[in-house]
Amino acid sequence: MDRSDKNTTPDQITPEHVYLSRRNFIRAGVFAGSAFVTGSIYQAFRPRRETVETAPIENVSASSVGEQATPFEEIANYNNYYEFSTSKSGVASRAKALLTRPWAVTVDGAVAKPQTFDIEDILKIEQEERIYRFRCVEAWSMVVPWVGFPLAKLLAMVEPASNARYVAFTSHYDPRIMSSPAVAGIDLPYVEGLRLDEAMHPLTIMATGLYGKLLPNQNGAPLRLVVPWKYGFKSIKSVVKITLTENEPPTTWNIAAPSEYGFYSNVNPDVSHPRWSQKKERRLGETGLRDTLPFNGYGEEVAALYDGMDLRKYF
Ligand code: MTE
Repeated sequence: MDRSDKNTTPDQITPEHVYLSRRNFIRAGVFAGSAFVTGSIYQAFRPRRETVETAPIENVSASSVGEQATPFEEIANYNNYYEFSTSKSGVASRAKALLTRPWAVTVDGAVAKPQTFDIEDILKIEQEERIYRFRCVEAWSMVVPWVGFPLAKLLAMVEPASNARYVAFTSHYDPRIMSSPAVAGIDLPYVEGLRLDEAMHPLTIMATGLYGKLLPNQNGAPLRLVVPWKYGFKSIKSVVKITLTENEPPTTWNIAAPSEYGFYSNVNPDVSHPRWSQKKERRLGETGLRDTLPFNGYGEEVAALYDGMDLRKYF
């Protein structure tokens, strides 16, 4: 825990679920960490994979491809979804219990026209393929061919009011099929937030699919946020509620460990996590380490959002 940042490589990092489950062990008397899947172990020992079948999404417009996308089987079998499991390889099988139809998403708060959308209507919004780099705060990364649409389109439908400054997101939570907060190690339901200008940025999407097909449950079906310049935990899964607010909303990992996870959580190789460096990352499927880029390589598009802000303070 008090290891030096500078000499730690991603493979040596204690994944946050293991760290938090140790804390739980003390706090709640529950040992939640059933898996200790670090990067290096993952390379050597590949757990049994779930076969994933989902339906194709019609009429997806193509996008430009910059980098080699991570294989579907990797993306669909190496997951963080603590409501189902704190083991990355254990999520896919448990998430099969999630029923994603019918599914409603309420968009309300500081808006002129609050609405509840059926997922089928959300899927009628023009869907685009967006191939994005995805960088987890645990120092692994992947390249994901998402299918989705700009969040700005959904927000425009409810007409944000002039006092709206933030957007709060809430995940579905069903204790009958999901873990308790004590076992998950985090407060539930999972909540996240963005500043309104971040939410309206054209790179910010609501994803409905992967590789041209509907999202597998373990990746956040039927609708999840994707903010490619921020650490992966901002990309909240299985969203049921989006509320525009005047004040900064609470966020799950900030509640769990405020000194480790801030509200902004922009990918930043110059700001270490208190327990490890963020300078390098391990791309799933690769053995070596890559340099982590400021804003995950999207700085040209998004750095202006933070002009004048001290990104060490607003981490
Ligand atoms: N959303 C919910 N509801 N619950 C979670 O545990 N984990 C987050 C994020 N969204 C999480 C979540 C974290 S830590 C990461 S890295 C990404 O989802 C992982 O997304 P993936 O499993 O599709 O790779």
